[in-house]
Amino acid sequence: MDILAALAEARLVPVVVLDDAKDAAPLAEALVAGGLPVAEVTFRTAAAQDSIRAMADRGDMLVGAGTVLTPEQVDQAVAAGASYVVSPGLSRAVVERCREHGVLALPGAVTATEIQAALELGLTTVKFFPAGTSGGAAAISALSAPFGGVRFVPTGGIGPTNVQDYLGIPAVAAVGGSWMVPKDRVRSGDFAGITALTAEAVALTRPAA
Ligand code: 3PG
Repeated sequence: MDILAALAEARLVPVVVLDDAKDAAPLAEALVAGGLPVAEVTFRTAAAQDSIRAMADRGDMLVGAGTVLTPEQVDQAVAAGASYVVSPGLSRAVVERCREHGVLALPGAVTATEIQAALELGLTTVKFFPAGTSGGAAAISALSAPFGGVRFVPTGGIGPTNVQDYLGIPAVAAVGGSWMVPKDRVRSGDFAGITALTAEAVALTRPAA
């Protein structure tokens, strides 16, 4: 499967932080029902690996691991079934471990120097994180002039009011964000609410009828 093509087709990547892996199955169901069979499950909690496994085992979702900081976490993510690995910054060790496993690495890069470093590691798509405080859509447009072949997945500070600013940039492959998966809704078990937020988010990515 071409993971980048699948991400570009999804247009939106829900960034998920789960405290309890038992929430992974109903959350996956909620995202799929809302029209978004994709998730970036972050290694910010001990539940990450089991949550990735629960989502990936469905077989109908594109599941990535997020906030991956070490090669060991790459191993854990891949063992759980993650199809790609996202990092907040650029780590040679993480990128190389991803390559050993044959999974796509999507590291963060927000400056020209960081993007050049990613290119030197053989990458052409980077996460642009944290997007909002790194110059936002205007910065991506400016960077895409010298880096014509680079595609960006901006994440951080993006929501319903500005997602279209990013998706309108040709160099943007997809946009990440947590707004369709609020922690309080996960905690309270409001998965129907998450489906509604997800469907609203998906509608924002479609051209007006
Ligand atoms: C991430 O890990 O990519 C961000 O925490 C998601 O950013 P957001 O919560 O501002 O959408």
